[in-house]
Amino acid sequence: MPVTIRTLKKRKQEGAKFSVLTAYDATFSRLISEAGVEAMLIGDSLGNVIQGQPSTVPVTLAQMVYHTECVARGNQGSLVIADVPFMGAATLERILEAATALMQAGANVIKLEGGAWLCEAVTVLARNGIPVCVHMGLTPQSVNAFGGYLVQGKDDTSAKALLDDAIALDRAGTALFVLECVPRGLSGEITAAVAAPVIGIGAAPECDGQVLVLHDMLGLNPRPARFVKDFMADTGDIGAAIQAYDRAVKDGSFPAEQHCF
Ligand code: KIV
Repeated sequence: MPVTIRTLKKRKQEGAKFSVLTAYDATFSRLISEAGVEAMLIGDSLGNVIQGQPSTVPVTLAQMVYHTECVARGNQGSLVIADVPFMGAATLERILEAATALMQAGANVIKLEGGAWLCEAVTVLARNGIPVCVHMGLTPQSVNAFGGYLVQGKDDTSAKALLDDAIALDRAGTALFVLECVPRGLSGEITAAVAAPVIGIGAAPECDGQVLVLHDMLGLNPRPARFVKDFMADTGDIGAAIQAYDRAVKDGSFPAEQHCF
């Protein structure tokens, strides 16, 4: 049975964790989906790991469409989430253009980086049959505004703003959330406060699911972030590493305390 948004919502309601990995091509898409990973994200992190760019800012919609098509061809039943790239969320018109292109390329869900200002877009897309994943916390497309890849929601004011934004977006019909680099306590609070499943990365084991960049969990990043675990180190085999990641997320052993803030 293919994984759908309903599958992930049911897992949240049952308290069962689910795993997500980034994918950029058909071969890894087949491997990851055959391993039972519930969802694959065609992340604009492809700018970093495929293109060798210093950030995700240079990634274009045409490139996201190309990689979404590749992943969709290899997919064996995982949910396919595709990123709207830099400036794609600048206006409602641009969001609709990007969402149309990514869904027609084979995505099941589109992901937007941002906060409560996306409520209108979430509602319009939901009305048109497009589930939206909202990426909050450290949103890498805003690295220049943040002044670095920094943990978000550390003080009371910014923590409250993140929680309020998540609640507003949940009410507007957000299907999924990604929380990146948000302190563990706040991540747990947001996960409990919203009906939509929350996927953590550098967030908390209390999140409903976890995501990592494929190249990071395969030990290919020479300077991995604190929240990364190298699953190749123990297995030495790509397929086994993906299966070990999936098991560790589902049995709650990943992320551990040392992967959180
Ligand atoms: O682009 C990406 O891979 C992402 C994940 C890190 C969540 O947004």
